[in-house]
Amino acid sequence: FEHLALSGRSVFITAGPTREPLDPVRFISNHSSGKMGYALAQAAVDAGARVKLISGPVNLEPPERVELVQVETAEQMLAASLDGLAECDLFIGAAAVADYRPVAIAEHKIKKGHEEIMELRLVKNPDIIATVAAQPQHPFTVGFAAETRDLLHYARDKLLRKQLDLVIANDVSAPGIGFNSNDNQVTLVSATTDQTLPQTSKRLLARQLIEHLADYLNHAEPT
Ligand code: PMT
Repeated sequence: FEHLALSGRSVFITAGPTREPLDPVRFISNHSSGKMGYALAQAAVDAGARVKLISGPVNLEPPERVELVQVETAEQMLAASLDGLAECDLFIGAAAVADYRPVAIAEHKIKKGHEEIMELRLVKNPDIIATVAAQPQHPFTVGFAAETRDLLHYARDKLLRKQLDLVIANDVSAPGIGFNSNDNQVTLVSATTDQTLPQTSKRLLARQLIEHLADYLNHAEPT
């Protein structure tokens, strides 16, 4: 397998949503299906990498030959992402991490009261990918940017703010792509360039993305 683009490389990929519990039966979450992250994991394995797939709750079969770490909350996803990170060459954050979680988790099911309006208090979650990128010996770190407007502007803002090496921007308001669909369309955003790839299935797109990322990785440092 010497000729494969990612042979000998270790790749960590986060996928799916996080779930932030409110009480024993309720949580805050989002519509991420995990399809994008799981397709990337498959493509990275096929390119010869050792892959750790850190996944929130999804209804997908994990690809064969990946190390699957199942998590629920952002805090668990962060811990799994930092575990063994020194070995990691390429980190891809495809997960839709909840930016906030309930301040407290009720021990018992929250009862319906008389009030018409109920307020939830939320506290900011750790930023997983920014934490990874801030490690002294950090891997090549690639984030996604899920935007509904000003795609490139916000994507480049995330690139700089989170100190990422590359951002894969998708317009999650466009029909047929983004959250939960089978297709996606993305723009690769670096500090100085952007490159839009045509809409295709997440499976094929993942293969193209992994090829691009292997190129970046193999040119960033001699192997
Ligand atoms: O799962 P699918 O249904 O296939 O859908 C794929 C997708 C739309 C979820 C995926 O392509 C995608 O865009 N994932 C990122 C979703 C997101 O939450 O984006 P964001 O712009 O809020 O976050 C920017 C980056 O920071 C992401 O890499 C995210 O993983 C990361 N992040 C965000 C918040 C946080 N607390 N920690 C993080 O690491």
